[in-house]
This record gives sequence, C-alpha cells and structure tokens, in this order.
Amino acid sequence: MANKKIGIITSGGDAPGMNAAVRSVVRTGIYSGFDIVGFKRGFKGLLDGEYQNMTVRSVSGTINLGGTILHTGRCPEMKTSIGLNKAVKIIKEMEFEGLVIIGGDGSLAAGNALSKHGIKVISIPASIDNDVFGTDETIGYDTALNTAVEAIDKIRDTANSHDRVFVVEIMGREHGFLTLSVGIASGVELIVVPEVKLDRNALYNELRQGFMNGKTSLIIAFAEGCGNSGEFGNDIAKNTGLDVRVSNLGYIQRGGTPTARTRILASIFGAHAVKLLKDGKSNLLVGITDGKISYTPVEVAINSEKTFDIETYNILRKLSI
Ligand code: F6P
Repeated sequence: MANKKIGIITSGGDAPGMNAAVRSVVRTGIYSGFDIVGFKRGFKGLLDGEYQNMTVRSVSGTINLGGTILHTGRCPEMKTSIGLNKAVKIIKEMEFEGLVIIGGDGSLAAGNALSKHGIKVISIPASIDNDVFGTDETIGYDTALNTAVEAIDKIRDTANSHDRVFVVEIMGREHGFLTLSVGIASGVELIVVPEVKLDRNALYNELRQGFMNGKTSLIIAFAEGCGNSGEFGNDIAKNTGLDVRVSNLGYIQRGGTPTARTRILASIFGAHAVKLLKDGKSNLLVGITDGKISYTPVEVAINSEKTFDIETYNILRKLSI
C-alpha cells in the first residue's frame, strides 16, 4: 500500500527558520511513514500544480539558511471562492492526508478556509512580526530581533558621535511587537507603536528636556505600522530644532541566518505538526505558550488579537530616563 501523503507550503512573507521547519516536517514526516510533497511559491504552487517530492536529502544543509527553499508568496486567489474551491479539488484529487502550512496571519486564514472544506490542516506560525495569536513566539521573530538590535547598536555609534536623534523604522505591518522587543534590547529612549497613543507635543518637550538634562543623542524605534517614519523625523526636527536622521532597517530584518532559538523552535513546531496530522487532528496552530508547546484552534487564533505587553513598554519608558 502506498504511503499517506502530507503537503507542505511556506506562505506569506519569508521568515528566517522557515527552512528549519520544512526540514523538520519532511524528516519527521518520512520517519513516521508519510510521503512529503512540497508546493512551490506558497499557495500559487498548489493552484498551478507546481510541487516537488521531498526526500530526507532534499532538506540537507538547509537548517542554517534564511528565506525558504520552497519559495513563498502572497496569493490573493486563495481569498476568492474560485481559488479556494480549486485548491480543495486539487488537494482531494492528490489524496493528501493533510497539509502543513508555515506562515503568518494570511496563511492561517487560508488554512482555516481549507479545513472548512474537509481538508486536514496544521499551521505553523512564521513571521518576523510575531503578531500571531496562540503563540508567544513566531518562527523568524528572534532572528529579526537580533538583526535589528545589531543594526541599532551600529546606528548608535553615529548618533553618539554626531549628537543626533535617530528615528529607526522597524518592520511590523500592523503591530509593534517586534519594535517593543528591539527597543528594550537596544536601550532606545522611546518606541512608537500602533498600540500606544502618542502625544506629539509631550514627545517634543521630552526630547528637548532630555537634551537639556545632558543627553547628547537619542534613538526612537518607530514601528512600520505607525505610518511614515520620514515625516515623523521631519516633524521632530521642525518642532525641536534637534539634528534628526531617519533610518529604515527594512528587509535586512527578513533575511539572514536563523538564530539558534529560531531553529530550535522551528524544528520542534515541525515535528508537532506531523504528530498532529498522524493523530488525525486538524485546524490547529502549533505554538509556544509560557514555555510549553501549545495547540490553538486556528479559528480562535485568527479571530483573536495578541495582547501588547504594556508592562514591558512601561519598563522601557522607565529605563530611558
Ligand atoms: O509580515 C512580515 C512583513 O515583513 C511585515 O513586517 C511587512 O509589513 C510586510 O511583511 C511586507 O510584506 P511584502 O514583503 O509582501 O511587501
């Protein structure tokens, strides 16, 4: 009798550690007696029939690679009923036991929609934004955090040498989770995040006061989701007379060698995803909650908002005096 098949997809924005998760699904899947099929370029590869049979050797030497060997993409077609029905038909015709989807919020929504059509899906959260409900940490987040901290350490040299204010833009489409962690780890004076309302005039006073109190430079971490960091920097310069520069860290945060923490998390998440499919489970998100592996119904994850850690935000504010 032929082995049962698991399909694997990396979807949405790439995140370091996606390869470690793919490797884990492939190897633990094969170990458990499954055949593994990797779809290329996210859901587009599923819809276009672009896939490859994965072997234990096809993931050799990938644990340390950023990006995703399967390629990825955002697939608007999956949000339409035509696209969704086509995907369901293909998955049923190819007789998959289930799918493992590695990605962020959008990928979770696609998985949820597929599971409503009787497809078994297990989701693994991967996004540098760390904005997925149901896990304290997403794959890739720790790597992006370390990349951004390293970059800000360098920017601080220039800020110090030139007595400047730097506004550093951190990725995060709608949330400030990454910005908060980057901010506290790099000792910035302030973070600007969508979750906390900013009083501009109070900010200008605080910056002026900071310099009067002996600060000679200052760094503000500005979350992408708060708008245009360039305009924000200009406003500060205009209203305080301080020497301001803006630096957008951009895509360097998405790439690069995954940290050990990212690789470990990805390897463990992958193994749990296979175990869940083997046990006949579906529509669950594998995550880590309070240090333990957790399973959250995807339906719950996509309809809930992750809580912003306001206590850590307040600590950061105290540390910046
Ligand atoms: O979700 C990760 C992320 O890098 C966000 O921080 C950012 O807003 C978005 O992806 C950019 O997506 P894309 O590369 O598809 O434009």
